[in-house]
Amino acid sequence: MEWVDKILKDIKNLEHLKDLEHLRLSIFGKKGFLTKEFSNLKNISDEARKKVAKDLNDIKQKLESSLLEAREKLEKMELDNKIKSQKIDVSLFSPDLSPNYGHPINITFDRIIDYFVGMDFAIRYGPLVEDDFHNFEALNLPKFHPARDMQDTFYFNDGKLLRTHTSPVQIRTMEEGNLPIRIISPGAVFRRDYDMTHSPMFHQVEGLVVDKDRDVNFAHLKFILEDFLKYMFGDVKIRFRSSFFPFTEPSAEVDISCIFCKGSGCRVCSNTGWLEVLGCGVVADNVFEASGLKNVSGYAFGMGVERFAMLLYGVNDLRSFFETDLRLLEQF
Ligand code: PHE
Repeated sequence: MEWVDKILKDIKNLEHLKDLEHLRLSIFGKKGFLTKEFSNLKNISDEARKKVAKDLNDIKQKLESSLLEAREKLEKMELDNKIKSQKIDVSLFSPDLSPNYGHPINITFDRIIDYFVGMDFAIRYGPLVEDDFHNFEALNLPKFHPARDMQDTFYFNDGKLLRTHTSPVQIRTMEEGNLPIRIISPGAVFRRDYDMTHSPMFHQVEGLVVDKDRDVNFAHLKFILEDFLKYMFGDVKIRFRSSFFPFTEPSAEVDISCIFCKGSGCRVCSNTGWLEVLGCGVVADNVFEASGLKNVSGYAFGMGVERFAMLLYGVNDLRSFFETDLRLLEQF
């Protein structure tokens, strides 16, 4: 049958997988060549039918196997082409490559750290997984103290926890017993919080200064924080507002005049004209006691790095710091 040779040639010459299916149907489909031949069998004399049927079956097998062969060849070819066309030449120069940006949180960290290193503070780090003693107990937050609720905590099964602030580094540093102490401690902290201005992981910088006798007092604290806030925010007004922390006495929160409305009242400062930026105080005696120090005095402070970054860069959703969106990061 001459159509068989033609079809076999067509199969050999196929270039695309999608044409193969077309060809297959023209053979085996309802109106295909072979289907027609098979249905013609009934019009053939009984003697001849056996031989013709056998021939048809041979042809069928031949066609099927050459179709299969063609399919495998074409599939491999198309895959090769795809791989070739998607290959990336990593050595090519791309004029669009962006320089590496600083993350706003890191930039803010660096600015804070620069100031205190310049003021002769050393940098100390503490563990992120803390025990109850360093995170709470030694900081005058005994079990069932209501202030523990302020810092809704992530606990592990063994009673350890993710530190809720950098203040445990105060305790760890004082436990070493070397005076004078003049440190800051930058790092991540964790609380069960998530909204525009809170994320379950955020960053703080703690500060601690301790020396013998009554050598360190609130005036020292006031001087350094005022100087620091002017360094960070420029010409702002600063006020110390009496407050409470279990581990300092007296305690204060520090406000700067609103950098957006210059103190006249706006949405950011809730129309108060002031922005709260950190907490501080004179280290409480029982904190020294829990850390094994006697006859010393000191001050401590703590600040939220995201809060500073939001104010410095006018970012109003804290969560955007952690979404790694290049459109935001490119601006730094
Ligand atoms: N640890 C306090 C907080 O997380 C901040 C603070 C540190 C306050 C040191 C006073 C002294 O809110």
